[in-house]
Amino acid sequence: MIALKTTSTRVVALLLLQSLWLQAAQSQQPGGAALDQEARKQEAIYQSRGEGVPSGYVVDRSLLSYSSTLPAGFDRSLANLGPSDRWLDIGAGEGNAILDYYTELYDAMHWEGRERRGKKAQAVAISIEDRRTPEWYETADRLAPDQIRYLYGKRMREYAPEELGRFQLVTDVIGGFSYTRYLSAFMEKVLSILELNGTFFTLLLDVVPETDPDPALYKDLLFLTEIEKPDGSNVKVCSWLKSISCVQVTCELNTELKRPIELYRVQKVCDKVAVPTLLPLSYEAGTPPPRRYRLGPLRPALLEEPRPIYE
Ligand SMILES: C[S@@+](CC[C@H](N)C(=O)[O-])C[C@H]1O[C@@H](n2cnc3c(N)ncnc32)[C@H](O)[C@@H]1O
Repeated sequence: MIALKTTSTRVVALLLLQSLWLQAAQSQQPGGAALDQEARKQEAIYQSRGEGVPSGYVVDRSLLSYSSTLPAGFDRSLANLGPSDRWLDIGAGEGNAILDYYTELYDAMHWEGRERRGKKAQAVAISIEDRRTPEWYETADRLAPDQIRYLYGKRMREYAPEELGRFQLVTDVIGGFSYTRYLSAFMEKVLSILELNGTFFTLLLDVVPETDPDPALYKDLLFLTEIEKPDGSNVKVCSWLKSISCVQVTCELNTELKRPIELYRVQKVCDKVAVPTLLPLSYEAGTPPPRRYRLGPLRPALLEEPRPIYE
């Protein structure tokens, strides 16, 4: 009888402890009405049209703009792709970078490797909202079927591997990498669709760079992507990327504008990729949205499921 009592006391204590832990973990997540409101505001930005598009939400960058914004190696990596290779642009907006790649002007400007490129790599654009223009449809009609594809209606991490296939080159110019609320799940997905030795080129605006910035330069700046350790100390995005297994990462500070922009080149060098989890602490709608994360530990599956997907 005493043994039974002790066992049930232990079970109750265990359940109590578990429920306290769950409450603590859940309280770290942006939750409830506030999150729903931010999610609605963010969705309105994605779906905005014409005059309603916020000035900070740029959807029409050219390939020239990609080349001058992304790390230096991007231009050569794209020019070196052959006809059996594939390029994925995440958060493509109107997809103008892809359209520019298929122009004669592109070949005139990238004379070297022209023969090898042939009819060029297949290019896939991903966007939450459909921003295809008449130019997109005209180019798609002129090219071989599926030479360019535009996928929309889902977030990057919602695609099944077979829907996307594998890519030698992945780009993200202020797309999903800057906008997602689930940064570690996003990176896992990107690395899962990268071929071995394939490269992901991206950047972040207003981020604490790997090399310490001149504090005077970024005085009073609101950082957009921040990561903290469980003890509250900060982790730089570059260090987090470098802690992913099976990747080689370079981080480069761009100081041309009076805001810290860090450029990232992430090359997949082996298959056993493991991305340290980032638990979302806060997320506000924006162009791009300010986000704060806590580094690991891995969350139990129970906490990953229940909330709808908002970004
Ligand atoms: C500011 S626009 C940038 C468009 C384009 N890269 C440019 O520079 O013109 C942001 C793009 O990212 C997309 N986006 C945001 N979060 C995403 C996610 N998690 N997965 C896929 N696309 C995403 C949006 O739908 C939109 O196409």
